[in-house]
Amino acid sequence: MAIASAPASLSNLGPGFDVLGLALAEPLDRVEAHAVEAPGVTLANTGPYGERVPSDPAKNVAAWAAQRMLEASGASGGLELVVHKEIPPGSGLGSSAASAVAGVVAAARALSLEPRRAELLAIGRDAEALAAGSGHLDNVAPALLGGFVAVVGTHPPDVRSLELRGQWSLAVVLPALVVRTSEAREVLPRRVPLVDAIDNLRDLTGLLDAAARGDLTAFSRHLRDQLAQPYRASLVPWLEGAREAALEAGAPTLSISGSGPAVFAPCPDPGSARRVLQAVLAHLADGGIQGEGWVTRPGPGALAL
Ligand code: HSE
Repeated sequence: MAIASAPASLSNLGPGFDVLGLALAEPLDRVEAHAVEAPGVTLANTGPYGERVPSDPAKNVAAWAAQRMLEASGASGGLELVVHKEIPPGSGLGSSAASAVAGVVAAARALSLEPRRAELLAIGRDAEALAAGSGHLDNVAPALLGGFVAVVGTHPPDVRSLELRGQWSLAVVLPALVVRTSEAREVLPRRVPLVDAIDNLRDLTGLLDAAARGDLTAFSRHLRDQLAQPYRASLVPWLEGAREAALEAGAPTLSISGSGPAVFAPCPDPGSARRVLQAVLAHLADGGIQGEGWVTRPGPGALAL
């Protein structure tokens, strides 16, 4: 039996729409794979969110990715998969990417294969396209590599690990609402005004510089997005209020992860992250929105887990 785990991840990170991602230390999805004689992939879903993902292997991203690895291997047998799902689907925390990455890595290990990184990324990208209707890599890449990652090519996939100095804590809050990535991508315009693109580039360069210097204040100031968030505001009407609650509790900012609804605040230490987490959860509960959250930090990807 082979096991692989892959982490949840923050994506976009303000100005890095579709190109920046950050792996979290938790939560993780885990996939167990057994090589068997019978051909094809069978699937059982377990864990707190096991019932919320497809049981049909053709529609389940972990099984789909494992099947691709099986086909690439030329092996005559099959795989039995058990997917332990701890990352809530539809959360903006890279749930489908983590399952796909854990699925493909577990399959490769069960089949004693050593695929190249680009092959794993390509399968993850195509699994993401199956789940979200778009093969973006900003969750797949951190789920595989861990840490802070930039996507520099999609076809073929090409990703780079970036420097993120400083031992920051992350308050991550997930309101109990679902935002489908596919729907959040449909509201985006094909073109954006040049002034917005320039502002976004300024924030992107500022963010990368702040990350490399470990400057939490500057990093937080540049966690803004002009490309997607203005068009998605109506999908997350509670966001401004949650941000105010976070700022009042001492957070430097509150930013959305991917298409949401998960939000996060980088904080200097676990104590301040916990205060922010509790303040945002309490604010949401006052408005009738339940939620869950984590005080976590950047973490490793599937290749190192
Ligand atoms: N970059 C993607 C998006 C991530 O914002 O649509 C999806 O969570």
